[in-house]
Amino acid sequence: MPTPDIPLEKLTPMLRLYVTMKLERPDCVLFMRVGDFFEAYGDDAELIARELEITLTGREVQGYDGKYPMAGVPHHALERYMARLVQKGFKVAICDQIEDPKQAKGLVKRAVTRVVTPGTLVEDALLDAKSNNYLVAAILSKPVNGIGVVDVSTGEFLITEVGEDEGIAKVVEEILRLQPAECLVPEGMDELAEAIAAACPATLTRLGKGKLPRLPREALLEHFGVQTLKGFGCDDYSAGLSAAAALLEYLKATHMGAVGHIRTLATYSTEDAMYLDASARRNLELTAGLYDSARSKSLLAVLDETRTSMGGRMLKKWLDAPLLSVEKINARLDAVEAFYDDALPRGDVRDTLRGIADLERLMARLSTGAANARDLVALRQSLERIPEVAAQALQIEHPAIQALASALDGLPALTELLTSAIADEPPLTVREGNLIKDGYDENLDELRQIVRGGKSWIATLEADEREKTGIKSLKVGFNSVFGYFIEVTKANLAYVPKDYIRKQTTATGERYITPELKEMESKVLGAEERINSLEYDLFVSVRDYVAQEFTGPVLAVAQAVAKLDVVAALAEVAQNNRFVRPVVDTGDALEIKGGRHPVVERLMGSAANFIPNDTYLDTDQQQVHIITGPNSAGKSTVLRQVALIVLLAQVGSFVPADSVRVGLVDRIFTRVGAHDDLAAGQSTFMVEMTETAEILNNATERSLVILDEIGRGTSTFDGVSIAWAVAEFLAARGCKTLFATHYHLLNELEKQLPNVKNYRIAVKETNDRIIWLRKVLPGGTDKSYGIQVGRMAGLPPTVIERSKEILSDLERDGSKRRDTLGGVSVAPKAQKLQMTLFEAEEHPVVEELRGLDINTLSPVEALIALQRLQKRATK
Ligand SMILES: Nc1ncnc2c1ncn2[C@@H]1O[C@H](COP(=O)(O)OP(=O)(O)O)[C@@H](O)[C@H]1O
Ligand SMILES: [Mg+2]
Repeated sequence: MPTPDIPLEKLTPMLRLYVTMKLERPDCVLFMRVGDFFEAYGDDAELIARELEITLTGREVQGYDGKYPMAGVPHHALERYMARLVQKGFKVAICDQIEDPKQAKGLVKRAVTRVVTPGTLVEDALLDAKSNNYLVAAILSKPVNGIGVVDVSTGEFLITEVGEDEGIAKVVEEILRLQPAECLVPEGMDELAEAIAAACPATLTRLGKGKLPRLPREALLEHFGVQTLKGFGCDDYSAGLSAAAALLEYLKATHMGAVGHIRTLATYSTEDAMYLDASARRNLELTAGLYDSARSKSLLAVLDETRTSMGGRMLKKWLDAPLLSVEKINARLDAVEAFYDDALPRGDVRDTLRGIADLERLMARLSTGAANARDLVALRQSLERIPEVAAQALQIEHPAIQALASALDGLPALTELLTSAIADEPPLTVREGNLIKDGYDENLDELRQIVRGGKSWIATLEADEREKTGIKSLKVGFNSVFGYFIEVTKANLAYVPKDYIRKQTTATGERYITPELKEMESKVLGAEERINSLEYDLFVSVRDYVAQEFTGPVLAVAQAVAKLDVVAALAEVAQNNRFVRPVVDTGDALEIKGGRHPVVERLMGSAANFIPNDTYLDTDQQQVHIITGPNSAGKSTVLRQVALIVLLAQVGSFVPADSVRVGLVDRIFTRVGAHDDLAAGQSTFMVEMTETAEILNNATERSLVILDEIGRGTSTFDGVSIAWAVAEFLAARGCKTLFATHYHLLNELEKQLPNVKNYRIAVKETNDRIIWLRKVLPGGTDKSYGIQVGRMAGLPPTVIERSKEILSDLERDGSKRRDTLGGVSVAPKAQKLQMTLFEAEEHPVVEELRGLDINTLSPVEALIALQRLQKRATK
């Protein structure tokens, strides 16, 4: 349905209003309140009909053919539909009625009351409790580029700057690390916008000139109400301040100015944290499994024993940014160790933490006016727990814990206010009373007295009138149309006194009122109405006062709670999973004794089943390990476990091993497996080479490089050659490298380069079967065991026998024949197979069979392939 092109003045007033508002916010999907619906017209109607699968209708416009497209959602369901749009990356503007339709003359006044975008959410239902929801702004400038980061739902607000000479790539890198929901880039910086759009799934918002504060520093000074930014440590910043000011401006526009809870600005340096690129984060399965993106198969799932949402978010933040300072790492390790050693207080602290609400998001709702009375009760109940947690933590006599506990302030003034003002069990709605306690406000108490008095007068009326009239069945009732009434059944109508005024006839009798009853009624009802609005006003003033006076202190408590929660959780994890404290220093060696993969071990259930392995890497003789072993032997597992142990150590966590020494690593690079990035439309091999190039260009002597079967995505000879050259290059670069490969030829490198060593994952062969030993041993392999794996997967004996023949032929004939499998040069020995395998009119199954690369198939893949072949062969 095309939107007809009709001049504004010919539209109905409602449509005209809609179209005018839309012109102001062309990048948003606009919903306008009309009766009980929120409606959209024109292109937006088409969009929401398509995206939300709702009916598209049309509105006639007088004097024109064709209809104006229209779609709407019921007002009570707006949140839900809006959430779906925002999750799809759209921005939504809500235009609501801002006067009571009953009192309106003409068209009800409307205005945009809220703009919801992926990066500006405060609605709890739309947020993940355990991740931050970042909005980021990037500004290119000289001599530095600026990045601003804000989470409106928690009030966190940060800036950083990176040298302009480090280029756009560095800016994009940092944005990828932050994983924002939305990213702001000024118009004109197209190269930056394109780079971000290509690398990052966040919603990209371009800011026109008018949306950038001309005087960023002044805008920030005004927002924070301060004379200088020195207190925030931001005074020397330039592009960073521009980014921060742009963020504030954008937030004010989407939240209609309600950004009072953003109280501090802090700086950070990208140099402080180890950068983990997207492929490392994915390959190491930090927050989601690689193949099915399940959180349960991630490192975070093993580590996340936090008890509060704030702690959960902080833990995720720590994982995303391992530290690069031995001192800071040890400070965290000290705190974890103190909790580790003292299990009793740890348990107590963790029990008490459980009852603490998400204070950061609560304060954000308070400041934006979205909080109800139950939020204030949750705030009080949480604060009441703080002194208790502090006392429990203080049981541990370690300075690291003492420092943390001393920041836990229960804010008694605030608790007192909330206790005296807010009802213990208030309703969800804030306009229907029962929010404020007796004794908090004199006027309210008086009104309540009137209501109570009136109600008891009415209650006694029934008894009085029964006695007066002698009608035993006389009743006083209430309905919303007539208010209070006296009801008399048909049989007793004769006894009704003269001063009763008849109001209504029912099936069973008559309903009356009396002047005194009505007088009392209007007193009661009037008071009730006044109570509701007075309670609302009192509630709002308490809410605003708390937001105004206590946001800073509550957020500080929230941070202290989060940190305590994280270190206690890491101690708990260490205890439950037999982790040990790593030694972290600035040396060259990485020494792991009895290392384990925390996630694989966890998924195996019983820890006793996982076979630990030692790893020793240095910058001397043991710089590059070439690791070979049959499919499924455990190569990938060992590689990742080494990377995860280093990462955990630098996060400040204990590690899954018997003992570990880590010489500080500046970056972990990974290239794992040959999984397709089909969604991105790139071929496996291209992805593999891009990631490999990134490693070769950026690895330093302090880096740890994990390469898992690179070269898989191309032909054997290409693959071997590239793998070889890459290994040589890394050996020369000096970075610690673990290189798993199925190209046994790479074992030759050991002879040529002093810093390269061969390792293999041991297996035991017994009558054609393999027993997985999962032990890494020195030395290379010259056998691939692919045929045995095929056998164990259930390939039919004839196929196995034939594979062995082909293999021994290939091995005998050596390299001159290696590339000819698939042609005709491998002579079959068994006559009966000849017909089906290599004759001209061969069965189509053979073609497929020949194409199978058994070396690279997992047992399950082999089984599936086999099933398919069998199906086709028996057709
Ligand atoms: N050290 C180990 N102890 C116990 N089981 C292991 C170990 N290493 C690997 N496994 C098991 O073997 C499976 C295959 O390991 P993987 O590392 O993918 O092998 P490869 O990369 O050599 O093909 C893993 O999913 C795990 O179940
Ligand atoms: Mg593997």
